Amino acid sequence: MAAEPALMNTPAELAAYCAAHAAGLVQIKPKVVFMKIEAADPAPVPMTINVPSSDIGSVTLLEASALVSLIKLVRPRQIFEFGTFLGYSTSLLVQNSADDCAVWSLDLGDSHVADRPLDAFAKADIHSDGDINDEYLRGAQGARGPHYTTGLTAAERSRLTLLQQDSRRFDPAAHGLEGSVDLVFVDGGHDTETITIDTANARRMVGDSGVIVWHDFASGIHSDVTAFVNGLAERELVVCIQHTMLAILLVGQAGRDFLKMGV
Ligand SMILES: C[S@@+](CC[C@H](N)C(=O)[O-])C[C@H]1O[C@@H](n2cnc3c(N)ncnc32)[C@H](O)[C@@H]1O
Repeated sequence: MAAEPALMNTPAELAAYCAAHAAGLVQIKPKVVFMKIEAADPAPVPMTINVPSSDIGSVTLLEASALVSLIKLVRPRQIFEFGTFLGYSTSLLVQNSADDCAVWSLDLGDSHVADRPLDAFAKADIHSDGDINDEYLRGAQGARGPHYTTGLTAAERSRLTLLQQDSRRFDPAAHGLEGSVDLVFVDGGHDTETITIDTANARRMVGDSGVIVWHDFASGIHSDVTAFVNGLAERELVVCIQHTMLAILLVGQAGRDFLKMGV
């Protein structure tokens, strides 16, 4: 079993660790991102978070607050998400970003034809097998659609572009997204092929500066994501957030700016 990564308690500890290490996995307490926000703005900073779905598939409440905190810290002008699902995280990205921030979210949508009806899945299988879990999520997304986005205002909706296609055939250049995205949330298919292609496209979109966040790192069932991110950490520094399945890559100037906050 891999050793627990070193745990950072403060923004200063994290910055010092990152200055001393070019690669590896480092863990931060969730409060580190909240401390950075407090340092940037001592006034209370509001967040908009819907009640999380009780069904499987969306980010948890703690992950939602960490993701929203990253938005408040990075202040993105453009965000891209792989994996719209029911639109829970998509709504977080839209409702907590600036009025002029463009948000893109991609999922299979109508392009996916389910192999079996949702009620043919056993709950135990969905919770224990990564491939079955993915198959269920693809089916649920196709059947239910991004219904959380129905809570967005007209102005918020106008900043959101929903793409429906297989991400393995997605080309950021076709949408003018190369080198122009500040924050990418990778939460689509969890198999090695998909996570590898989505990450390559995330890198193309952030270019030389930006933040990439993966969901399902260290998940009990999506071991491909864990193996993939651990592989990255052999060459680059990856920050994961304790008690969540979020892992973060800080690229270029945006990463350096992020590390400085609250130090
Ligand atoms: C875990 S869910 C996303 C959850 C969402 N980000 C949230 O927290 O609310 C994963 C989504 O990835 C989508 N997906 C899986 N494989 C995909 C592919 N090859 N292309 C596009 N979307 C894919 C599934 O349809 C599913 O809706």
